[in-house]
Amino acid sequence: MHGETIVVLGGTKGIGLAVARKAAARGARVIVAARGAAGLATLKAELPAIQTHAVDAADASALEAFCASLGKVDHLYNAAGAFVGGTLMGGDMATFRAAFEARIWGAAVAIRALGSKIPAGGSVVLTGGLSTDRPVAGAWATAMATAAAEQMARALALELAPVRVNAVAPGWTDTPMWDAIFGADKQTYFTDVAAKLPVGRLAQADEVADAVLFLMANRAITGEVVHVDGGHRLV
Ligand SMILES: NC(=O)c1ccc[n+]([C@@H]2O[C@H](COP(=O)([O-])OP(=O)(O)OC[C@H]3O[C@@H](n4cnc5c(N)ncnc54)[C@H](OP(=O)(O)O)[C@@H]3O)[C@@H](O)[C@H]2O)c1
Repeated sequence: MHGETIVVLGGTKGIGLAVARKAAARGARVIVAARGAAGLATLKAELPAIQTHAVDAADASALEAFCASLGKVDHLYNAAGAFVGGTLMGGDMATFRAAFEARIWGAAVAIRALGSKIPAGGSVVLTGGLSTDRPVAGAWATAMATAAAEQMARALALELAPVRVNAVAPGWTDTPMWDAIFGADKQTYFTDVAAKLPVGRLAQADEVADAVLFLMANRAITGEVVHVDGGHRLV
């Protein structure tokens, strides 16, 4: 990874931030895009060598312009996205659509714009999730989005070859995404979930990031989905 260029969409918090930090520590040239100026500034203060860009992955023209400004890219990781809850019968359709905008359409736009800039053996890593195999009532849009990301990896592994396309599928992972959803109740939910897991604990963002870096580095793997869920699919 030393000297390679890694682009992380959604790299200022959680799993994407952990990927950016680890890639930088391995000597990669890291380029991070996210929406919030504060997160980008904090990352820049921590790691000045990382290039930061304010981009909304749900805004196709902004994302295309950002991708067009880049040179050769060895690996792309898409962490942009979020859990979207709500029932189909009771929720808001525009909100449901938003579950797909950054994570699926954003990924597609970025891959289309960067595909020819990724050399043979380079890779794209997408983010699926536990809800592909274990959907929960009241979060159908997220389940659809995680499944779509995983299937996109399989389908594009064929189209983009010899560029590799894989996905990581996190289970419940302790990141800022859940602060926004659960607020002060986060720890109660986490303790509950952890008690049911074979590993007895939730994953940390660093552990999911390790799987992302593994998928980037291992040139024999494509069209694969690596689960980092503490055995959650089994219980
Ligand atoms: N944490 C989990 O338990 C878990 C489990 C399964 C799957 N996932 C998925 O993994 C991905 C990363 O999750 P996380 O927990 O690390 O989330 P997080 O802590 O909320 O971090 C998300 C990152 O993506 C950026 N982002 C969000 N929407 C964006 C957009 N439209 N354009 C550009 N950047 C955007 C955020 O920065 P800004 O807000 O400043 O843009 C932030 O840097 C998400 O797709 C999530 O659904 C997470």
